[in-house]
Amino acid sequence: MDKKKKLTILDLAEMKLRKEPITMITAYDYPFAKIVDDAGIDIILVGDSVGTVVQGVANTLPVTMEEMVYHTRLVNRARERALLVFDLPFMSYQEGLEQARRNAGRAIKESGAEAVKLEGGANMAKTIEAIVNIDIPVMAHIGLTPQSVHKLGGFRVQGRDEQKRKKLIEDAKAVENAGAFAVVLELVTCEVAKEITEMLSIPTIGIGSGIDCDGQVLVLHDLLGINPGRKLKMVKQYANVYEITKKAVEEFCQEVRERKFPTPEHTFYLEPSKGK
Ligand code: KIV
Repeated sequence: MDKKKKLTILDLAEMKLRKEPITMITAYDYPFAKIVDDAGIDIILVGDSVGTVVQGVANTLPVTMEEMVYHTRLVNRARERALLVFDLPFMSYQEGLEQARRNAGRAIKESGAEAVKLEGGANMAKTIEAIVNIDIPVMAHIGLTPQSVHKLGGFRVQGRDEQKRKKLIEDAKAVENAGAFAVVLELVTCEVAKEITEMLSIPTIGIGSGIDCDGQVLVLHDLLGINPGRKLKMVKQYANVYEITKKAVEEFCQEVRERKFPTPEHTFYLEPSKGK
């Protein structure tokens, strides 16, 4: 993997052919976007998960286009190499093809993203086609689709019975035929995810869908352990940023209270050489 080369959707297709795993992560602001881009991530998704992990709301439904444009702009200023994907929020594309085209166009024009993501399978095939037809790349998202949480009756694993397996296969084929350049498989059993990955020519990016997907995505704040209340089986927590941050702030508070900070090295004097 060339950590310097700017990635496009064409590179992702080639990575699938070469069986080279694709990495994707969410980011919502400049500093984290800089870190994940410098770390060599292939795709940055500005996810509507911003609602649950940054805004503190219960699900992704309240997130707006304005908020997504704002966060994606921050991320776009930092990233250099990764492909940038804008997650279309709930009710920004479900009303009809005209609305979907308008908001996909706005996403690209106002935020600097290079592609949009939307949730849905066969039911969204026409929408995907309409957006792809105005030359905006679309990443699809099937399986557990958080914007349908009320219809699905909660956040559950998808594809455990034969009828659901068939539906997932049908959805995967539909989004590929509609022109999506990749598809997120969320909380799909690993057997069905493998079947879909082998069947499709576009890359599958899994979250909670097993090792056989063409790539993997995680929500950055989950991987970093920033929100201590969020513990999900599909997530591997690679750090405990909550504890690191809390400890640093406790230390700061203590040093201020004990008048140990600021020391001369953090102080400005009339005589500039003093305090060095
Ligand atoms: O919003 C999001 O972060 C997502 C990922 C979990 C794929 O859709």
